[in-house]
Amino acid sequence: MNPGKFYALPQSPQLFKQIFMISGYDRYFQIVKCFRDEDLRADRQPEFTQIDLEMAFVEREDVMRATEGILKAIFKVIDVDIETPFKAISYREAMDKYGSDKPDLRFGLEMDTVDEVFKNTAFKVFKTALDEGKTLKALKVPEGSEKLSRKDLDDLANMAVKLGASGLVWMRVQEGGKLQSPVAKFLSEAEIQNLLDKLDAKEKDVILIVAEEWEKACEILGQIRLYLGKKLNLIDENKYSFLWVIDFPLLEWDEDEKRYVAVHHPFTSPMDEDLELLDTDPLKVRAKAYDVVLNGQEIGGGSIRIHRSDVQQKIFKLLGISDEEAQLKFGFLLEALRYGAPPHGGLALGFDRIMAIITKSNSIRDVIPFPKTQKAQCLMTGAPSEVSKKQLDELFIKVVLPKK
Ligand code: AMO
Repeated sequence: MNPGKFYALPQSPQLFKQIFMISGYDRYFQIVKCFRDEDLRADRQPEFTQIDLEMAFVEREDVMRATEGILKAIFKVIDVDIETPFKAISYREAMDKYGSDKPDLRFGLEMDTVDEVFKNTAFKVFKTALDEGKTLKALKVPEGSEKLSRKDLDDLANMAVKLGASGLVWMRVQEGGKLQSPVAKFLSEAEIQNLLDKLDAKEKDVILIVAEEWEKACEILGQIRLYLGKKLNLIDENKYSFLWVIDFPLLEWDEDEKRYVAVHHPFTSPMDEDLELLDTDPLKVRAKAYDVVLNGQEIGGGSIRIHRSDVQQKIFKLLGISDEEAQLKFGFLLEALRYGAPPHGGLALGFDRIMAIITKSNSIRDVIPFPKTQKAQCLMTGAPSEVSKKQLDELFIKVVLPKK
């Protein structure tokens, strides 16, 4: 019908549901297919299903309460009565304590920061790290000495290195608060005592420390936390542990593309109190975004949206989207916003992810008929596959493959 023109399969109906709100429908709800061409993992498929909602004249908490209601109803089907409201923690706290923006709270093993303890240390590795602005993240494994052999500890150190750390320091707390550790001889008695106090560490506990730039240190130790949670059987498989993660940063810096990118999506509203930081320190701006996490998996995400065209334009500019491009791609949204849009917000739940958790499946492939493989192939139909020249000619399409 339209030679030389293309449709795009929607990643989500984000803009459509916003236009609904602006046009006067104040509640929207849809079970919808979404399509994404991205790296596949156990919890991702190119074609998946969202439970999608949007509401006008709401604040963050209204969307959170509505979502909890939906999840409560879903879990009733399997006779699980979930307790609401869910606990909410900031992105910063999630990273600091659990080393993940989707922490699994079915078990403890909280991390801590021990920069203060070692601020005047003579131990070179820690001193250099702190001088370089890095941070010292520590994880205490209660009674770890009894559960982790010397080989286990060396394996953990190797694992940290594989994850990108320059190393991992382990310490076993012994009788009288003495430490058994390859680095014990470099630490003063006061430092050791302060460390034990800070972590409330007792005899037989094991302490693991990683010294890296904040995000990296949190993530690496967070992976080790998850590994230990499984290895030490700390996870109750029958538990459903729901959590909100809020106060995400609005933007992050993309080193490859040398520009800011939106952490959630470009239509997410900055926090009112952070608006001025858009001009001075964009990476410090927090978003009115929220993720709902279940057993360490992100099962949903959403935000309060930008409802002012001037703020939307400013965000596009920060994201490196020129006025012309913004007009071309999102002109209909910018125009709609100019007519005066109600404050609005929403969220989408990942239906397949929830079903995988409910059915205790290891991958969402187990709850999707004819799923794609990790290489995004359908083993049944052999898709994607080449099409004949005749079919391409009919559509006026020419394929130019990169040279090998
Ligand atoms: P987001 O991109 O966070 O938000 O998606 C919402 C939820 O959908 C699920 N999900 C996936 N499930 C399977 N395979 C995938 N490839 C996949 N990608 C995402 C996740 C995720 O939490 N329009 C916004 C929502 C909003 O702001 O209202 C959106 O799509 O569980």
